[in-house]
Amino acid sequence: MLVLGLETTCDETSCALVRDGVEILSLVISSQIDLHREFGGVVPELACRRHIDVISAVLQEALEKANCLLSDVDLIAVARGPGLIGALLIGITFAKGLAYANKIPLVGVNHIEAHLYAAMMTADPKNLMFPSLGVVLSGGHTSLVLIHKIGSYTLLGQTVDDAIGEAFDKVAKILDLPYPGGPEIERLAKDAALDTLQFKPGKVKGRPLDFSFSGIKTNVLYKVRGNDLKRITPLLAEEKGAIAKAFQRSVFQDVIEKIQLAVQENPVKAIFLGGGVTQNKELRRMLQEATTLPLFWPKLDLCMDNGAMIAGLGYQKFLENKEDMLFTIEPETRMPF
Ligand code: KG4
Ligand code: ZN
Repeated sequence: MLVLGLETTCDETSCALVRDGVEILSLVISSQIDLHREFGGVVPELACRRHIDVISAVLQEALEKANCLLSDVDLIAVARGPGLIGALLIGITFAKGLAYANKIPLVGVNHIEAHLYAAMMTADPKNLMFPSLGVVLSGGHTSLVLIHKIGSYTLLGQTVDDAIGEAFDKVAKILDLPYPGGPEIERLAKDAALDTLQFKPGKVKGRPLDFSFSGIKTNVLYKVRGNDLKRITPLLAEEKGAIAKAFQRSVFQDVIEKIQLAVQENPVKAIFLGGGVTQNKELRRMLQEATTLPLFWPKLDLCMDNGAMIAGLGYQKFLENKEDMLFTIEPETRMPF
């Protein structure tokens, strides 16, 4: 089954052609980083306009790279949420038009669930051992879930304030680094000679598997601007490096401790991880050291928002439900896991 996947939840316009849920024939990602960089974060109105401008060309390029025509496509899958309302509307409306005009069934998928499916796509299908732990670490979400099977999950913990990627982006902004902050902080931390600081991520009373990252961001702000927030002297390069290193280590230690606790409480056979932050090589190294369970990470180009994970998960959903959602899909800015 050849599936066309469309992703427009935030600031990437992406389209992919994927066969049978795993074989990626083409993947095109048009990133908007250049557009949002001068504002230090995503500007929803600009994101929507750019999606409209590029979505047809992105589709065309994906079809050409896969060497196929729309008439070869058996199913269209689109991310229906969570995400920015305008951005979702563009992807969904475009997908509905394509599906209706070409008489192709349409399925809508949860973008966050698709981040976990990205890790499953890189595994040999017979390695999909359940129950497993799913860990989503992205710009908008930080969640621990028990995966009973594809499509069946129990939420174990999530962030009560900032998402982990958002914390990287906000700390980067405080350190005067460009958007998106994750890769910048990883680079600074790697090169840092000084390792003298320690930050503490928040704990959520009575909910040991929930996350809180807003306090650590404020701690960094005090470190940079002084306790009265009045210091304006720019930081030395080695001071920035030391902060980046300590921040990154603290949040990853926090994530790893919670993964270990979740694994103690739930007998899982493997861990699947997904989302932009899972590109971080230091995170991959630290978790590898901390667990003996099999770890499944997405390929690097499948960590960020992409159409291949949407096509892959859409295939699985359609196999299970056989439901054409052409007239029922609506955008959902928030979706439960
Ligand atoms: O999954 P994603 O593309 O978007 C959402 O669905 O939210 O993730 C984007 C996030 C950004 O916050 C970015 O700073 C972070 O992923 N990120 C990283 C790295 N690369 C991207 N965070 C830490 N280390 C990285 N190397
Ligand atoms: Zn995402």
